[in-house]
Amino acid sequence: MRLSSANINVMVKACRKASKILIRDFGEIENLQVSLKGPGDFVSVSDKRVEKILIDELQKARPNYSILSEEIGEINNDKSFRWIIDPIDGTSNFLHGIPHFAISVGLEHDKEIICGIIYDPIKDEMFTAEKGNGSYLNNQRMRVSSRSELKDCILFTGGPKHGAVDGELSMKEYTKFSSKIIIPIRKLGSAALDMAYVAAGRCDGFWSRNLNYWDIAAGIVLVKEAGGFVTDFSGEYQYIENKTILVTNSKINKEMIEVLK
Ligand code: IPD
Ligand code: CA
Ligand code: CA
Repeated sequence: MRLSSANINVMVKACRKASKILIRDFGEIENLQVSLKGPGDFVSVSDKRVEKILIDELQKARPNYSILSEEIGEINNDKSFRWIIDPIDGTSNFLHGIPHFAISVGLEHDKEIICGIIYDPIKDEMFTAEKGNGSYLNNQRMRVSSRSELKDCILFTGGPKHGAVDGELSMKEYTKFSSKIIIPIRKLGSAALDMAYVAAGRCDGFWSRNLNYWDIAAGIVLVKEAGGFVTDFSGEYQYIENKTILVTNSKINKEMIEVLK
């Protein structure tokens, strides 16, 4: 049975509404690939359009909550409740017509994420979680995988951002893992979906540097409620809005830290 608390319902409604525009705009992208100007400007307009719908819907339902959203930044209201929004996570995929991106919305209460939704509109996969009430993919309860040996795992990593050092680092780490043992490592291009896939048991672990809070907010509660771990590379979790993150099932956390440190 799908989660249906009042806050989750508000988030689902906002995501469904915003996704209609996102799907429509994604349909235009293919045509724009061949235009001289390319789809760049169109994508940033689309990003803002989707963000506006999300914010309008969330504000209508919860006028006092604060907001942190990637494109517009902060809207300060209530000090204890805050929506953390990424209107399109996986923008590069979106821009290139690759159907792997998502809307991500987390609800923070007193500096802890208590509800999260990651919605992949193309596959119509709605990942939801609420603190204490489990994680769901559409109507199905999700659990992290139970693989305990790295050799049996699939891992995800992120980056590189344009010209950034984190890309190089993630290649070094990639090599460390692959020299240890042959492990399939993937870069799918959406940190939010990477975390949702760990929660769903599709992938066993994910690491990335220098993510923003909106990339990971919803994913944090999804993974925890599915029985997984969200830490940094030393195995700690601190409330920091700019994160280097390690996300795993409950079995491989220690072994991944050994390789990453
Ligand atoms: C990006 C994606 C990507 C990650 C980047 C993020 P955006 O978010 O999550 O997977 O590697 O660090 O910035 O720009 O598509 O919202
Ligand atoms: Ca993002
Ligand atoms: Ca984004």
